[in-house]
Amino acid sequence: MKKLIVLVMAFVSVFLLADNQLANLRGDTPLDAEAEPPKMQAVENNDLKRERAYPQQAPTIPHDISGYQVDLNFNRCLACHSRKKADEAQAPMVSITHYMNREGQFLVDVSPRRFFCTQCHVTQQEVNPLIENTFVDMDTLVKGEE
Ligand code: HEC
Ligand code: HEC
Repeated sequence: MKKLIVLVMAFVSVFLLADNQLANLRGDTPLDAEAEPPKMQAVENNDLKRERAYPQQAPTIPHDISGYQVDLNFNRCLACHSRKKADEAQAPMVSITHYMNREGQFLVDVSPRRFFCTQCHVTQQEVNPLIENTFVDMDTLVKGEE
């Protein structure tokens, strides 16, 4: 009897879910079908800083990075963004936080925690968001409360 109730509940919840779909990247494509991927857009390459959505945000990358090697042997990003190369490349030096270990002590070089740049820094594309985003900027939030 218990098993039957569980089964009925499972069916009901499937119907409820089907009726009230959560937004997802598949859109209306059924589970057993392959969705048509959106066309690849060119990566933003205008050298212009974007506004950060909040103070701690890792700045987005305003230039193309295709083909840049970042692995155990070499870090192409540091060839321009390290302290030693920033003047030559006229690139902003990596943030001082990138030299800190987890105890907050400064190291002579970029900390291993900050080595794989694209874990946090990403390029941008001019596309419509695949899923509606309800993010509200802090200033807008504070204004709303006043
Ligand atoms: C050939 C030199 C060069 C290389 C290689 C390079 N950058 Fe840059 N980067 C720059 C310069 C110069 C700027 C300043 C804006 C501009 O001119 O694009 C910049 C800007 C940035 C910014 C914006 C900083 C801010 O304050 O808004 C980020 C983030 C960044 N780069 C990340 C990266 C990452 C991650 C890589 C490796 C995948 C990388 N860069 C590789 C030269 C370089
Ligand atoms: C774990 C996340 C993380 C990784 C990995 C990381 N960054 Fe950052 N980066 C940030 C954040 C967050 C900020 C902004 C806050 C700050 O300054 O720490 C930032 C700031 C920067 C800035 C702006 C500095 C300035 O003064 O305007 C540059 C340039 C940058 N990072 C480049 C890099 C490069 C190059 C690498 C790889 C060697 C890298 N970052 C790896 C999170 C990261």
